[in-house]
Amino acid sequence: MKTASKRRIVVTTALIYANGDLHLGHLVETIQADIWARFQRMRGHECWTISGSDAHGTPIMLSAEKAGIKPEDLIQQKEKEHEADFKAFDIHFDSFCTTHSADNSALTEAIYAKLNAKNDIETRTIAQAYDTVKEMFLPDRYIKGECPRCHTKDQYGDSCEHCGATYSPLEMINPISTVSQTKPMEKCSEHYFFKLTKYESILKNWLDKTPLQPEIKNKLQEWFEGGLKDWDISRDAPYFGFEIPGKKDKYFYVWLDAPIGYIANLGDLAKHNLAVTVEDFFSKDASDKTELYHFIGKDIMYFHVLFWPAILVSAGYRLPTNVYVHGFLTINGEKMSKSRGTFISAKSYLAHLDPAYLRYYFFAKLSNNVADIDLNWVDFQQRVNADLVGKVVNIASRCTGFIHKYANGRLAPCLPEQDLYQLFARSNSEIAQFFEEREFSQAARAIMHLADLANQYIDSKKPWSLAKESGQEALIQAICTQGLNLFRVLMIYLKPVLPAMATAVETFLQINPLVWEDCNKPLLSHSIAPFTPLMQRIQNEDINPLISQQGDHHS
Ligand code: MSP
Ligand code: ZN
Repeated sequence: MKTASKRRIVVTTALIYANGDLHLGHLVETIQADIWARFQRMRGHECWTISGSDAHGTPIMLSAEKAGIKPEDLIQQKEKEHEADFKAFDIHFDSFCTTHSADNSALTEAIYAKLNAKNDIETRTIAQAYDTVKEMFLPDRYIKGECPRCHTKDQYGDSCEHCGATYSPLEMINPISTVSQTKPMEKCSEHYFFKLTKYESILKNWLDKTPLQPEIKNKLQEWFEGGLKDWDISRDAPYFGFEIPGKKDKYFYVWLDAPIGYIANLGDLAKHNLAVTVEDFFSKDASDKTELYHFIGKDIMYFHVLFWPAILVSAGYRLPTNVYVHGFLTINGEKMSKSRGTFISAKSYLAHLDPAYLRYYFFAKLSNNVADIDLNWVDFQQRVNADLVGKVVNIASRCTGFIHKYANGRLAPCLPEQDLYQLFARSNSEIAQFFEEREFSQAARAIMHLADLANQYIDSKKPWSLAKESGQEALIQAICTQGLNLFRVLMIYLKPVLPAMATAVETFLQINPLVWEDCNKPLLSHSIAPFTPLMQRIQNEDINPLISQQGDHHS
């Protein structure tokens, strides 16, 4: 791990489809990436976060149609909403733009021209399911029918949920277009394929050198064994996307221009920020100097570890340093779904609960594997109340009053228990390693272990008993200075997770913004402001509306 020299890092999170509400599942990824990026910045590294809004594709075209508005209006409205929701959760992006921009269009065309120049695009005529009423080709998910193998009804056009068979929609028994409820026909048209197969050995080589998560390596092995296929990067009209230059009624498939949005959005940042250039992070030799990480969910792995790296190589760019994949969020053990009432939007969460709770809860649950994580509301309430309110905030609230009452709001000139402080400070390297490796649940455990020690210290010294005696002012001041310094170290470690609370603590301790290495030096002979409540306990009535949202749908 390079820690001595300043690292230059770009972190991306998947661009959010601009047709639905931002939900708690999206927040798993963006909270994970935000914590990681804030940690890097606190360590003195340069770390830019890039995300945005994914504007194209059939579902967006159809959503707009259903809402009776133009796709341009829908995507603009959703982009604004998503950006505001992220802000409310203290998720910081240095750049957040839509893929439906002139810059992204120009970049997509330029990259397509490079792929063509490399002879990496091949034209083929293929037969696809076509809706004759709606006059459009149908993506697999808009076709339902009976599985040709096990005859289970009501399956999607690409695979059977019951027996796992995969097939083309035209092989299904009684296929139906879910757009018009009519039987789709077979129709031929010309498509453009990216020759993914040409890049098989380069991809294998990249994967061998990249410390991908073991689950991802295994999945890739499976894909290689099954044989790679060339990738259809075109779609026929009607489609909402970028038209392919020089072709009539042909559009780039959304999954071509969406990841290109990562580069376009970094370009947008570079326009406003002289410290960055796109070349620094994407030129062919950039991997020697800068790091590029894509944070994604397990459902979009194929695009990020096969297609995207191959496109990058073909177009003459660098490869990602790594792709960090997370699992899916379930709520009380169930898949997020509107019909089950387990779909919780960012907005409905915000109407009832402090975003800091969710940031901490995901932190306490996440690790660096692709396992799904469950949000259980009872566990959520207990965990946040016990750890943050009961352990961490409690230290400060117990000590601050005494400092004001017996020491005029001034911390003592030295610590009575140097060793205990040193134990806290020394833990920083282990905790930093957990952050670096995205072993957040282990970081949380280590931090809460320290919080327990701090509380035990105060319990054993009982400043409240000393306060009943006379002449104990200096001792009370020393004990509470110790307590507040232990609290301050905990807040340093928690700052990437709880940025708003860290700001409130900086205000109340009257100090500069905390950075990681501040843990090495205690705060002494220093005046602090009166204590302000840093976090409220979660009451039943706060979470009940979210739980009953679920109950309603069950009955
Ligand atoms: N637009 C594409 C990504 C293009 S990136 C060039 C997309 N968008 S999405 O809105 O459907 O999902 C955005 C991210 O959220 C993805 O990484 C996805 O895996 C993640 N999640 C969506 N639902 C999720 C859960 N229920 N749980 C955890 N993550 C989930 O895919
Ligand atoms: Zn089947």
